[in-house]
Amino acid sequence: MAENAVAVVILAAGQGSRMQSDLPKVLHRLGGVPLFGHALAAARSLEPEQVIVVTGHGSDRVTKALSKLDPEARTVLQEEQLGTGHAVRQTLPELEGFEGKVVVLYGDTPFIGEDTLAAIASHTSDLVVLGFEAADPGRYGRLIVTDRGLERIVEFKDADAATRDIALCNSGVMALDASLLRQLIGKLTNDNASGEYYLTDLVALARAEGRRADVVICDEEETLGINTRAELAQAERTFQARARARALEDGVTLTDPDSVWFALDTFIGRDAIIGPNVVFGPGVTIESEAEILPFCHLEGCHVSSGATVGPFARLRPGAELGGDVHVGNFVEIKNAVLDEGVKVGHLTYLGDAHIGEATNIGAGTITCNYDGVMKHRTEIGARAFIGSDTMLVAPVRVGDDAMTGSGSVITQDVPDGALAIGRARQANKPGFATRLMAALRAKKEAK
Ligand code: UD1
Ligand code: CA
Repeated sequence: MAENAVAVVILAAGQGSRMQSDLPKVLHRLGGVPLFGHALAAARSLEPEQVIVVTGHGSDRVTKALSKLDPEARTVLQEEQLGTGHAVRQTLPELEGFEGKVVVLYGDTPFIGEDTLAAIASHTSDLVVLGFEAADPGRYGRLIVTDRGLERIVEFKDADAATRDIALCNSGVMALDASLLRQLIGKLTNDNASGEYYLTDLVALARAEGRRADVVICDEEETLGINTRAELAQAERTFQARARARALEDGVTLTDPDSVWFALDTFIGRDAIIGPNVVFGPGVTIESEAEILPFCHLEGCHVSSGATVGPFARLRPGAELGGDVHVGNFVEIKNAVLDEGVKVGHLTYLGDAHIGEATNIGAGTITCNYDGVMKHRTEIGARAFIGSDTMLVAPVRVGDDAMTGSGSVITQDVPDGALAIGRARQANKPGFATRLMAALRAKKEAK
């Protein structure tokens, strides 16, 4: 086991009743991902040996979401929410044999910075609490600090008037040696104003054992917890403002930063250009010098260098655009790889497909990938030319250098270099239109 081994415990058992929701609080979305995804991402920055999420309300749904966000993290169930100390106690079986620092985070507190966490995890005291000077200390736990360090934490409900005057508050984040945790957590009692097992009481217990406890101070903004929909909306504004600022600092051009929406994991390379009203869902990477024109929605996709997308395009999960690909207006792409130089300019759906390099997809082309029960693949070779309004009924393959006639319904594979036409043959009837119009007008006048 590494010398500075870290295990992270994320508390996420609470219901969050002030959200007025049937959804567990940590599953409400912030920056395109469930709220507790932010604590998970911060946890991962510590390169921990273990991440354990304590679930309670909506445990099944939280566990399912976790398996997508972070398949290596584990959950433990806290059947009854008897307090933060009780919650951490549930993780002891998972932590068996672990030697190192245990860092406790809250699933509903998304903005703890990676530098702050690193400072806590690497601190040499036996127990460290993340504190902040509160503008309005409200109902936070108060930190009692002397020249010997942190003496104890007093919860608001248990505090006398003098203690309530203290502005130094507990963020809830705590780090301590696993051995100390194991030694002390069984000693917590619920003999207090809330009748809960307080994690915060570990401080006084550690001090009674002659251990050193200290406070690391951070900005109040970092400790912001989400309790209501209004707070969630405010947190979204904060998140987006930071993401926009970071993108600009990283050398991305945002024509109108305030109308671009980021997800937690959006990655955009230097010298990419993002137009107004672009929304990034989770899982998007944009390489350098790609351009996303206005009004695009992207999710779970990759856009290579030199590609242009939009305006009004939608890239769904599994869309992979090679270098210099051009995707134009009203084009939707899902689970499809477009090799270098592919052009798909207008009004098209490409799903479950692979398009070879330099192929041109005409306006109105659709991969008919779904038969009502199953999805099927469309393979199009390199340098092919798909005529406008081609229906590609999958599974189907169009070869290299092949063409399809406009308006074709392609149900059979097209060999390399062939032209496929799948539509009714045209018939011209001389003079028919003139005679028909005259007859119709005569009929109208007779009425
Ligand atoms: C806690 C701290 C307080 C601190 C404040 C910061 C304690 C006793 N108090 O108070 O010092 O200032 O956070 O916001 O720790 N949770 C569980 N299981 C439980 C109880 C809570 O998983 O049995 C989770 C909640 O879902 C939440 C977090 O722990 O994410 C904090 O619980 P909460 O009840 O909000 O604690 P506070 O009373 O705010
Ligand atoms: Ca709280």
